[in-house]
Amino acid sequence: RQGYDLHKTVVLVGMMGAGKTAVGRALAARLGVPFLDSDAEIESAANMTIPEIFERDGEPFFRAKESQVIGRLLDEEKGILSTGGGAFLSEGNRQMISDRGASVWLRADLTVLWNRVRHKDTRPLLRTANPHATLKALYETRVPVYAEADLTVDSDGEISIDNMVDRVVEA
Ligand code: S3P
Repeated sequence: RQGYDLHKTVVLVGMMGAGKTAVGRALAARLGVPFLDSDAEIESAANMTIPEIFERDGEPFFRAKESQVIGRLLDEEKGILSTGGGAFLSEGNRQMISDRGASVWLRADLTVLWNRVRHKDTRPLLRTANPHATLKALYETRVPVYAEADLTVDSDGEISIDNMVDRVVEA
């Protein structure tokens, strides 16, 4: 069917576990627009997983790729773009996103985020002796930056993906 006519790419930002990928995919399907995912693009271009990229090439290399990919995706087509949790922290990325897109912060409490990420092993930044403390420290430094997003949508622990999509559409 005819998709929604987006004037800007909608860029989902926020912490690991906020639901950027799941909500982004469902939102794109709801609006009938392309779904873009910077982490997935980085993985398929490198033919490696994110933990493998961090392990082999280090975080600075990953961040450079991430900026390149976000720039390219913003240029290529309008859609819903889910980013990795660190993407919005770079001033250059924030600038690209505000020039060419509209940012939406998916906000969730630390407890909710922790419960969503604690049993997964896909986040290299949480491979520390105390991943909860690491997540908390990231949360505290990042929240003020995410708060610069154009819109904020709250995600509580029990909310369904569909209801999150409703909230983003409304916002
Ligand atoms: C990161 C979050 C990850 C991924 C990478 C770094 C971060 O994406 O980009 O592991 O710095 O918070 P998700 O937010 O999708 O987990």
